Amino acid sequence: MQKKMILGLLLAILLMGCTVLTASDEMPEPDGDSLWGYISEVSLYQSWGFWSDHQGMQDGRAPHGPQHKVFVNQTGLMSVGAPAQYGTIEVKENYGNDNVLKAITVMYKVRGYNPADGDWFWAKYSPTGTTLKQGKLDGCIGCHGTRAANDFILVHEL
Ligand code: HEC
Repeated sequence: MQKKMILGLLLAILLMGCTVLTASDEMPEPDGDSLWGYISEVSLYQSWGFWSDHQGMQDGRAPHGPQHKVFVNQTGLMSVGAPAQYGTIEVKENYGNDNVLKAITVMYKVRGYNPADGDWFWAKYSPTGTTLKQGKLDGCIGCHGTRAANDFILVHEL
């Protein structure tokens, strides 16, 4: 009887431990809406950091708009050299001349998602988080692929 109780208790503790672990480790699926939920609710991207050489508002080039901010999650910032670590997310806020947020473009590195092109999931959102484009997008890859050796990242040398 006592043995059973102890066993039960151990099992309960084990299960609780597992729940906590999966909750903190859980990354979103490579899916536009799941990724938006993650960066707007689970791990608020505005609270992330910047690349040391690309902080705050920066001038940009077409097609992304005249000004932008690039937020990088902790996993990305911890990357040492190319490629970036799996789980890296970069969120780019694209502003118009009038300082109005026009669109949000995101790169998310997912193991096994698209090995031919650096395993990046690409997404474009409206300023309020509506998914406009997502996936293995040829347009995004075409431009960013010019720096495949830097793991498709253009604003920062890994
Ligand atoms: C015509 C070329 C071009 C296309 C197409 C393009 N980008 Fe970019 N992207 C750039 C350039 C150039 C930068 C560097 C910042 C700047 O100048 O705006 C950049 C920067 C970024 C960044 C910041 C991280 C980095 O790589 O430096 C993200 C995130 C991003 N783009 C996402 C996307 C997504 C998602 C798409 C497709 C929906 C896309 N881009 C399509 C040229 C392009």
